[in-house]
Amino acid sequence: MDDNDPGSRIALALDVPDLETARQLIDKTRDHVGTFKVGLELYTAVGPAAIEAVHAAGARCFLDLKLHDIPATMGRSVARAASMGVAYLTVHGVAGRESLRQASGNAGSTQLLAVTVLTSLDAAALDEIGLSGGPRGAADRLAKLAWDAGLRGFVTSAHECAALRDALGEEAFLVTPGIRPANSDVGDQKRVMTPADAIVAGADLLVVGRPIHDADDPTEAAAAIARQVQLALSQ
Ligand code: C5P
Repeated sequence: MDDNDPGSRIALALDVPDLETARQLIDKTRDHVGTFKVGLELYTAVGPAAIEAVHAAGARCFLDLKLHDIPATMGRSVARAASMGVAYLTVHGVAGRESLRQASGNAGSTQLLAVTVLTSLDAAALDEIGLSGGPRGAADRLAKLAWDAGLRGFVTSAHECAALRDALGEEAFLVTPGIRPANSDVGDQKRVMTPADAIVAGADLLVVGRPIHDADDPTEAAAAIARQVQLALSQ
């Protein structure tokens, strides 16, 4: 898919348990979606076959493994993912400076994306694990650490996207989950934004899951989101 195609700004989360279901979803949406996200569930179930299924459709693979380990293991794991041609790979900022540096040094043409604070953790949960400053303070600190270690990609709530863009500038690559078309079911997401608003806020890549794969017609749901992205881009 061409970089000017609105679908190149959409990553569909393949939050499914097996390869057959993933392939069906890819087939139904590949004309409108440039990137497919393979997460822990699917990768644990079928491993690199999931990446191959995405590449076989001519799409980009976003491997969402949220790596967090010692520097040598991080470096080697990132190198393996890069050698499989993965376009995007997530790592945890809390892995620390040296692990992030090793990851960054071994990423090749894979774009690393730093995860700062999981949105499932509130202030009390952060306190319990000893991360100071509350969710916002910890996220800002970890984003700066990741930037210093050489990472330029970040997973962020669409609501923090504009502030992060202002702080980091055009060089940052910002990825936003929690996307919901207007009037759609929010599910367990607490802070959502429409595709068009997220693009206007400066998001480079929108992660969308249930609004597409739970739709009666996933092809049309993906096409509708691509149209909203196109409208926002042409504003
Ligand atoms: O179904 P939905 O559109 O909510 O899918 C969201 C996807 O984005 C899931 O794969 C989920 O793991 C991921 N994600 C998220 N919130 C974050 C980080 C990632 O929902 N803060």
